[in-house]
Amino acid sequence: MGVVGLASRALLAAALVALCSAARSDAPRGVAVGFVFDLKARCEPQCRHGGICIRNDTCFCSKGYEGESCQFAHCQPRCKNGGTCLRPGKCRCPPGFGGRFCQKVTCDGGCWNGECIAVNGAAKCICSSSWTGSKCQEAICPQGCTNGGSCVAPGVCSCPEGWLGGACHVAVCTKSCWNGGKCISPDKCRCRPRFTGPLCERVMRYD
Ligand SMILES: *[C@@H]1O[C@H](CO)[C@@H](O)[C@H](O)[C@H]1NC(C)=O
Repeated sequence: MGVVGLASRALLAAALVALCSAARSDAPRGVAVGFVFDLKARCEPQCRHGGICIRNDTCFCSKGYEGESCQFAHCQPRCKNGGTCLRPGKCRCPPGFGGRFCQKVTCDGGCWNGECIAVNGAAKCICSSSWTGSKCQEAICPQGCTNGGSCVAPGVCSCPEGWLGGACHVAVCTKSCWNGGKCISPDKCRCRPRFTGPLCERVMRYD
């Protein structure tokens, strides 16, 4: 099956121009037309997207289409990032890409604390330091948040009631422990030897 390539398209265009100017001129100086439209020509499959069947199995495609039966749309500029050309100037973009030529990277849900870039054909958030997660939505607390605390900003823990400190590692006793006792968890004192009671307030008695 023949294909009218770019060269013969240019030739056809030149021939048409020559024909038109020849028709207007009184003294035609013949440019020999290399081929003519075969009005009985048959193209199988049929020429698509407005292409004209000019010879048996040879389509002359309209602008923006190419292929044996003009079946392929041709996008100029080309669709980027694996996009497919639907019709001239219209690309269908793979997930994660947008814009007229699929040139824009879009991360689903956005990147909260990072930048959306294309990595191996896929849109991906690249997080700033101290942030992680698919949307860079999770802060990193290098110190860790213990005792049920949660990391709410880089290096900042939000602690449950009864705990304090950068890593929620300091227990809070609303009444302080006596006699050198140590607050080891919320409102719980660990007493030094010989002391007892909730606040280590009593001396143990050995009878
Ligand atoms: C084109 O094809 C038809 C049948 O499909 C045939 O009859 C005809 O002769 C062909 N024309 C040329 C120029 O080969």
